[in-house]
Amino acid sequence: KVVAVIMVGGPTKGTRFRPLSFNTPKPLFPLAGQPMVHHPISACKSIPNLARIFLIGFHEEREFALYVSSISSELNIPVRYLKEDKPHGSAGGLYYFRDIIMEDNPSHIVLLNCDVCCSFPLTEMLDAHRRYGGMGTLLVIKVSAESASEFGELVADPVTKELLHYTEKPETFVSDLINCGVYIFTPEIFHVIQDIRTHREDKANLHTLSSFEALRLTTKTHAKDFVRLDQDILSPLAGKKQLYTYETMDFWEQIKTPAMSLKCSALYLAQFRHKSPGLLAYGDGTKNPTVVDDVYIHPSAKVHPTAKIGPNVSISANVRVAAGVRLMDCIILDDAEIQENAFVKYAIVGWKSSLGKWARVQGEGDYKTKLGITILGEAVTVEDEVVVVNSIVLPNKVLNISVQEEIIL
Ligand code: GDD
Repeated sequence: KVVAVIMVGGPTKGTRFRPLSFNTPKPLFPLAGQPMVHHPISACKSIPNLARIFLIGFHEEREFALYVSSISSELNIPVRYLKEDKPHGSAGGLYYFRDIIMEDNPSHIVLLNCDVCCSFPLTEMLDAHRRYGGMGTLLVIKVSAESASEFGELVADPVTKELLHYTEKPETFVSDLINCGVYIFTPEIFHVIQDIRTHREDKANLHTLSSFEALRLTTKTHAKDFVRLDQDILSPLAGKKQLYTYETMDFWEQIKTPAMSLKCSALYLAQFRHKSPGLLAYGDGTKNPTVVDDVYIHPSAKVHPTAKIGPNVSISANVRVAAGVRLMDCIILDDAEIQENAFVKYAIVGWKSSLGKWARVQGEGDYKTKLGITILGEAVTVEDEVVVVNSIVLPNKVLNISVQEEIIL
């Protein structure tokens, strides 16, 4: 049997995702009309002999309750949210719930970060993992040398694929091959985490400890139960014939900012074209709006047939889009209203926000810079004819004059 574990983190981790993480935990933010965590969950569905999926985090349980019960019945696989009382780190969180995870006596644990966007080639990874015969297999990808330092950089044996060297977010360049945050482990991983904790305890008990060492051991990252998968496990285990790599040639992105969520929404919409074409909207310009690929429209949204939508647009529940509206590269969240002839491009329009007639909300579409897209928080009102460019607007603001390159607090 196989169990899957998705690390969903908690509120303190979501700061870069503001203002969209104020009321919705980042893992539930919609990409291509589905909660972020839905994409790895549905990828797990294809794993042979999958017994169960766990989400581990320190968000409030009630925030996940509805989603977890609906996805369990939709996929016909038990999905359970396990709440940590405090952050234990990516490996510490896994260890904290080891007894529950091992209840089904799984032979393999698929471990996923929730904030990555990829095709999750889990079945292929499992096959490779069995061939390698190690304790763990990491999904890896080649990225540009400039961006590699944002991730765990690694060196793998070109023939055996063994992980030879691993450094988390190094200051000087090591390699353009990086860790995708998608892993397969045997239950042996729990012993490895246990060893690290015991080792720390022994160290802390040494009477010869300098006061500096003692202080270091009591800080958060060195607390006994805070264990990071990357620094504390992957680095020391590299080159010991226990960890192997599987390289993906498909798409992969990390989702730390709202701008990246817009980019990843496009990647998942494109994936739907092959995997779930039934989820995409197909317009005809008469009864339905004109649609330029790829577009998701929630069944409860009302879009006027004279509107033109796409590419890369996701429209959530109860959104109203009036006549003559043009939407491109954007996410329109629940209950928003877009009035006649408004224009949106490279933007995220928050829950219950309202755009007046002929309003323009747009960004330049640079996903890597802070103001590369425009973000309207919850319940923002943009009045008629007002233009908002490359800006972030916090919740409940009313904009009656045009703004550019501004953060409206
Ligand atoms: N439950 C729980 N508890 N989850 C956590 C905790 C924790 O204490 N800490 C982090 N996570 C979750 C995050 O929500 C995220 O899904 C994942 O674990 C990894 O988060 P971080 O440890 O903050 O690392 P990162 O995202 O900056 O980088 C990691 O992922 C990259 C790929 O996206 C590293 O492993 C990098 O090497 C890797 O390239």
